[in-house]
Amino acid sequence: MLIRTPEQDISRVLFTEKTIAARVEQLGAELTEKLGGKRPVLVCVLKGASFFYIDLCRSMNCNIDMDFIAVSSYGAGAKSTGVVRLIKDLDNNITGRHVVIVEDIIDSGLTMQYLKQLFSARNPASVTTISFLDKTARHDPSLKTDYCGFEIPDEFVVGYGLDYANYYRNLPYIGILKPECYK
Ligand code: IMP
Ligand code: MG
Repeated sequence: MLIRTPEQDISRVLFTEKTIAARVEQLGAELTEKLGGKRPVLVCVLKGASFFYIDLCRSMNCNIDMDFIAVSSYGAGAKSTGVVRLIKDLDNNITGRHVVIVEDIIDSGLTMQYLKQLFSARNPASVTTISFLDKTARHDPSLKTDYCGFEIPDEFVVGYGLDYANYYRNLPYIGILKPECYK
């Protein structure tokens, strides 16, 4: 039987596994430097940030708490619906805690803005934002995160947790999806 592999749908690899690993190590060291003594709560925004989140947590050389939240602004498509929906809230109280929101990608910036507002209302000690990727041309500069893995052009990318209709998350690198593979 002929198996259609996810690789066939990628037009170009943007970041290899090796490049990603090196950058995540750097980010982990920077976060450790900033929040190391404060036992930060690292919040994973499911599911896109999952691979980045796990690697980032592993690269931090300090005590941390792990928590998970699920939101959706995309449904199954490649364009944002403009409405953020909370699907799964945090398990733990973040009042008085140093919170780090870990996202996969900033596109319109709406999801991160929503999460920042949601968490700030719970009176944390601080909120730090980090995104693996950032499509800087797609949003106002004021919506930039505190930390970012890579700035990328306005292309639809998949892999390392990022999906199209739940496909391609398990690709170990970041690749540009062929336009004929999404509508
Ligand atoms: P925003 O709210 O418009 O910033 O969109 C953020 C969310 O959209 C991310 O958490 C991703 O799940 C999704 N997203 C935006 N651009 C892409 C992309 O190029 N590939 C895969 N998912 C994307
Ligand atoms: Mg997503």
